[in-house]
Amino acid sequence: MYQSSSLLLLLLSLFQSAFSLVLPNGVGRLPALGWNSWNAFHCNVSEANLLVAANAMVKLGLKDSGYIYVNSDDCWSVKDKRDPKTHRIIPDPDKFPDGINGTAAKIHALGLKMGIYSSAGNQTCAGYPASLGHEDVDAAAFADWGIDYLKYDNCGVPQAPFNWTDKYIACVPDNSTNNNRANNGSCGTPSATNHLAPANFDWATSKTHTRYNRMRDALEAQTRPILYSLCEWGTAGVLSWGNGTGNSWRTTGDIEPYWARVAEILNENAFYTHATGFWGHNDADMLEVGNGNLTLAETRSHFAFWAAMKSPLLIGTNLANLSSENVEILKNFHLLAFNQDPVHGDPAMPYRWGVNPDWTFDPAHPAEYWSGSFTGGTLVLMLNSNDGTEMRKTTWDEIPQLMGKGKAFMVKDVWSQREYGCVSGGFNSTLQPHDTAALVVGNSC
Ligand code: GAL
Repeated sequence: MYQSSSLLLLLLSLFQSAFSLVLPNGVGRLPALGWNSWNAFHCNVSEANLLVAANAMVKLGLKDSGYIYVNSDDCWSVKDKRDPKTHRIIPDPDKFPDGINGTAAKIHALGLKMGIYSSAGNQTCAGYPASLGHEDVDAAAFADWGIDYLKYDNCGVPQAPFNWTDKYIACVPDNSTNNNRANNGSCGTPSATNHLAPANFDWATSKTHTRYNRMRDALEAQTRPILYSLCEWGTAGVLSWGNGTGNSWRTTGDIEPYWARVAEILNENAFYTHATGFWGHNDADMLEVGNGNLTLAETRSHFAFWAAMKSPLLIGTNLANLSSENVEILKNFHLLAFNQDPVHGDPAMPYRWGVNPDWTFDPAHPAEYWSGSFTGGTLVLMLNSNDGTEMRKTTWDEIPQLMGKGKAFMVKDVWSQREYGCVSGGFNSTLQPHDTAALVVGNSC
C-alpha cells in the first residue's frame, strides 16, 4: 500500500500530465540521478566496475546528493544465446559471477538501485541478445533480478521476417560518430529505404513507437517499478510520444567527451525544452564529467546545462579517478536542487541566444542565456560559447521570471556559493572560453 503522501503525489501528478507514464512510489517523476558504465568502460562492464562506482558514490557523498542508480549499459550478457529452457538472456559469468541478481543485491545493500540495458531489436548495439519479441520474458527476468531501471536502445531492428524498421527518420543532422544506427539509417543521409519524414508526419504511428510500447507494457505487468529510459536517439519523433511510453527519452545521438559535441547536443536540446516536465524528461545523454579533454570551465557548463534542462544526470566516468573539482561540480547544491525540484517541473529555457539571433540552429553557438524557476528562486545561466575570454551581460528586465518584479534582486553565485547581496539592474560576468556564469536570483530588494 502506498503511503498517503505518495498517493497524493500520484494523484496530483496524474492531473498535471494526463498522458505521462506514472510509476508507483514516485519513481520517474524527477530526472534520474546515478551512474552508467558506458562512457567510462564501454564493453568492459562487470560487477567489479559497478561496485567500484557504487562504493565511490557512497564515499564521495554522491549518494547523499541524490545519485542513486548504478546502471550496467551494453555487453553484460553472454553474446550468442539465450537460456534454452527459460529463454532468458544469460548474464556473462565472467563479468557477473553472481548473476545480475547477485550484483543487484550488493548494490541494494548500499542503499542504491540497479539499472540494466537492452534494445528494441534482435541485438544490442554491441551485438548482444536484445528484447524485441522477448519483452515479457526479459521484463520478468529484470524484475526477478531486482532491476530498478531499464535503458532501452534502438539497435538490431530486423527487416525480416517482419520489417520493424520505419520508412522515415526524424532527426537533425549531427556529427555523432556513433555508427550503430545502421538499421535506422544515419541522420542526414537517408538510405534507399529510409527517408526524412514529411512535415506533420504522425510519429505515434511509427513502428519504433510500437516497439517501445511493447516493452513498456511488459514492464508495467511486473510488480516491481522499473524506470523506463528510452534511447531511440530522436530518430523517430520521440518528443511527440515519449511521455506516454517512458520516463525519459534520449533526444540525440551519442555524447562524446569534448566541447564541440557537448555544445552540439546543447544546441539541439535548446529546441526541445517544451517536451520536459514531471514524469517525462528529455535525456541529453550521459555525463562526460571527468572524461576526455573537457576543461574545468567546459565541465561546469556541461553539468550546469544538463541539470538546468532537467536531463537525467548519469555520471559516466571512472569514479576511482575523479578529481575533487569534478566531484564538487557533480554535487553542486543549487544545480541539483533545480534539477530535482519537487514543485517546479519545467526545465530552464533560453531567453536569448547571444552570439546568434534567437532560435538560430548553430552547433558551435547554442543559446547562451537561460533561466528557470525553482523553489530556491530563479536560476540564470550565461554561457560564453566563444573561444576567447569574454563578458556576458544580462539585465533583470529581460528575464521572463523577473520581468516586472523589481529593479534589484538578491543574488548568489552557484559555483562559489558567494552571496552578492542586493544587485541592481542586471549582472555582468567575465568568462573563460566555454564557461558558464550561474546565478540564483532571489527576492527583489
Ligand atoms: C548506443 C547508445 C549508447 C550506448 C551504446 C551501447 O546506441 O546511444 O548510449 O548505450 O549504444 O552499445
